[in-house]
Amino acid sequence: MKTLEHFFERNRKWAKAITERDPGFFAGLAAQQKPEYLWIGCSDSRVPANQIVDLPPGEIFVHRNIANVVVHSDLNCLSVIQFAVEVLKVKHIIVCGHYGCGGVMASMENHDHGLIDNWLCHISDVGRKHADKLEGLGEKEKTDVLCELNVIEQVNNVRNASIVQKAWSQGQELYIHGWIYNIENGLLKDLCSFDT
Ligand code: CO
Repeated sequence: MKTLEHFFERNRKWAKAITERDPGFFAGLAAQQKPEYLWIGCSDSRVPANQIVDLPPGEIFVHRNIANVVVHSDLNCLSVIQFAVEVLKVKHIIVCGHYGCGGVMASMENHDHGLIDNWLCHISDVGRKHADKLEGLGEKEKTDVLCELNVIEQVNNVRNASIVQKAWSQGQELYIHGWIYNIENGLLKDLCSFDT
């Protein structure tokens, strides 16, 4: 049985370094989590939420799936949003996509990918809805534009979620942001933001 011992070794060094810098760090986090941000991002290994915005544990509540999709019937994502909004009372929900997203690219292909095609249908729907904006574009540009459109559509799905509508109707302070990350240079771009 391979135990990935090197991970435990790295973990011990990491925890030790943090404790040396801030002896109360883990005790403070153990007492409560009070993040102000919910991050809904892609599962892609190159787009880790905390590292991109250089924030330590405890600062961001995170949900990730293939191509950062928010589906109105996805109990997993909706439960995360509900807990974040109603219990943690986050002030910001960030939907962060990224250029060169494999899920977005696969959604534009015609061949069979197996089970995942059912998930990718949500992105194909975005492509169909905005077909006029994609027409005539080269392959890379088309992918980039669809990656951006997908973020904006998923932001709209967050805005329309009953949990978010309820929070806004009760006057809760809550901002929804759409961002896109460039895996080629490590930089984020702001696409849209809403408070209604
Ligand atoms: Co992706």
